[in-house]
Amino acid sequence: MYKNTIIIYGSSLGNTRFVAEKLQMLLPGAVLRDSVEVGPETISSFDRLILGTSTWGVGLLQDEYETFMEMLQEQDMEGKMVALFGLGDQQNYPDSFCDGMGKIYELLQNKGIKFIGAWPPDDYDFTTSKALIDEQLVGLALDEDNEPDLTDYRLKKWVEQIKTEL
Ligand SMILES: Cc1cc2nc3c(=O)[nH]c(=O)nc-3n(C[C@H](O)[C@H](O)[C@H](O)COP(=O)(O)O)c2cc1C
Repeated sequence: MYKNTIIIYGSSLGNTRFVAEKLQMLLPGAVLRDSVEVGPETISSFDRLILGTSTWGVGLLQDEYETFMEMLQEQDMEGKMVALFGLGDQQNYPDSFCDGMGKIYELLQNKGIKFIGAWPPDDYDFTTSKALIDEQLVGLALDEDNEPDLTDYRLKKWVEQIKTEL
């Protein structure tokens, strides 16, 4: 059971929420929340966080996730374990694919967090991404616009990987 785990998503059109719900089903007991529902008390009561956002504009965080990240940066995150996932569109935004996920990672540096769930970029077709660091994606990238048929497979594989650490 994953009672100490919370999945927090930001979603404008529902894609990230849809994926976050699937993720919750793969992690029985994990709590699922939209970022707009989450305040400092919730953050302090969980040691394991799975954070997911889509990317908007060109390379920006999902709207409400911007506000959420401002709040999160103020919190004591020392010793917490964090896994990231991101939704993007490789075909229309190949130069900023899943940048939002990369932004979360960047904003949470130097806070004593242990990041888990880095993911290989091989199976995608994009040019650049802020989420690509040292030849690995900082978390799971999903593309519901062009590769919805791969989402379940990717999620399952990623969960198998992070499960061992959660
Ligand atoms: C106006 C607009 C801008 C977008 N910008 C990006 C982008 O820079 N990078 C990217 O990977 N995807 C981008 N996307 C794709 C969305 O991130 C993608 O459709 C995602 O699944 C939306 O998820 P949501 O419904 O949870 O917000 C953009 C989509 C739109 C409509």
